[in-house]
Amino acid sequence: MSTAVTATVSAVCATVAVVITIAVIRRCRRWRWKVYKKFMAKITDEINRRNRELEACAAVNDVVIEIGPVEKFLHEILNEKPMRFSSEQLASCTGKYSTELGSGGFGVVYKGELPNGLPVAVKVLKVSMNKKVQEGFMAEIGTIGRTYHVHLVRLYGFCFDPDTKALVYEYLENGSLEKYLYRDGEGAGDGERKERLEWRTLHSIAIGTAKGIRYLHEEFQQRIVHYDIKPANILLTADFTPKVADFGLARLGERENPHMSSLTGGGRGTPGYAAPELWMALPTTEKCDVYSFGMVLFEILGRRRNYDAQLEDESREWFPKWVWDKYEQGDMECIVSAAAGIGEADREKAETMCKVALWCVQFQPSARPTMSSVVRMLEGEMAIVPPVNPFHYVSGGGSSSSWALSSSTGTGTFTSSSRDTGWDSKVSAASTPGKPTDAMVKSVESTDPVTT
Ligand SMILES: Nc1ncnc2c1ncn2[C@@H]1O[C@H](COP(=O)(O)OP(=O)(O)OP(=O)(O)O)[C@@H](O)[C@H]1O
Ligand SMILES: [Mg+2]
Repeated sequence: MSTAVTATVSAVCATVAVVITIAVIRRCRRWRWKVYKKFMAKITDEINRRNRELEACAAVNDVVIEIGPVEKFLHEILNEKPMRFSSEQLASCTGKYSTELGSGGFGVVYKGELPNGLPVAVKVLKVSMNKKVQEGFMAEIGTIGRTYHVHLVRLYGFCFDPDTKALVYEYLENGSLEKYLYRDGEGAGDGERKERLEWRTLHSIAIGTAKGIRYLHEEFQQRIVHYDIKPANILLTADFTPKVADFGLARLGERENPHMSSLTGGGRGTPGYAAPELWMALPTTEKCDVYSFGMVLFEILGRRRNYDAQLEDESREWFPKWVWDKYEQGDMECIVSAAAGIGEADREKAETMCKVALWCVQFQPSARPTMSSVVRMLEGEMAIVPPVNPFHYVSGGGSSSSWALSSSTGTGTFTSSSRDTGWDSKVSAASTPGKPTDAMVKSVESTDPVTT
């Protein structure tokens, strides 16, 4: 009997144990499923969150830039980085690139208008963009975009779409100085012959330009060398205030102009304005801008291109050398009367401009003044030492055309003498930034007597 009871109890216990085990196993399964579901929900949430972030970024790119009233817009860009435009936005604000303002080594410039009515000039770049250049582009935009000076063209924004790389600048109503400078209207497009500018206007354009370059060299937090100072890169507002354009572009990449690239190694500079060290692949400093500015001063003085092969009088073919020859002979009168339109009251200013130009184009960079000295000399605040011959390094008898031709083809040859090294080293040793003229006075007076 007891055996039967024991067997029954054992059976019941076994059954209960089995039932409990089954229940526990089911619980465990359910719990595992719950944990799995929770884990999956977390992953799904994370994926959804990332997707939402990506969508938000895409949406930001697609947002049409809201541009407020002009004042607000200008205030914003003065305090912030330049704006990014899409290629569609640029196409729309330029009326599908319908009005061309001009073209140069870096691309074509079109007129445009932002939605708030602000006129702009859009330069569509055709520079070759490898990865290094692309990185440089972004860095450069940051730099150029932060420069603000009354004599520098303002960069409003840029486009960096795969199919369009462009820079959006403030629009300058009177275009470039090139269109006004030369007597025959050369430099102006068809039907664009411009009024003649008065000498005084040209003089203040020269000073304003010098101030713009001075800011780039000496006042901006990071020194910027322009590398391509020339009348085409001096733009004029409606009241003929000059603004330097295209600074910083030299570092954006090679121009699509094989002649330029081979000439100046890296596509920098323009023949006739580029300093010798640029096209001779020597080390360069900001003084190459001083040289180019000197060449612009000669063109302002003569209201002509510095090199003009059409002239019958061969000695006048290359204006800077002709000016030096006359200056050396003490014939300042001849130089000033050649510069048409200079009245009696402005003769002194013209003579000053002539001397500053001769200093700026010295062959040795260290002998050229800094831009702050250039400004002070042009404004009559600093006495000017009689310039020394900028062209005695040229071999081949110094004919007026040989140097001009060599400087525009990059094939010049130079002579160097102990005398040259003497006065140049004295100038460079004695010069201190911002005050080179005193140093020049001493060194030049003691070593290089020239006729004034
Ligand atoms: N911000 C601007 N406002 C008005 N006109 C402009 C502006 N920028 C350029 N232009 C016009 O477009 C022309 C071409 O300019 P661009 O800078 O492309 O060529 P460049 O100055 O002749 O040569 P480079 O490539 O060496 O600068 C200028 O001469 C000027 O007439
Ligand atoms: Mg330009």
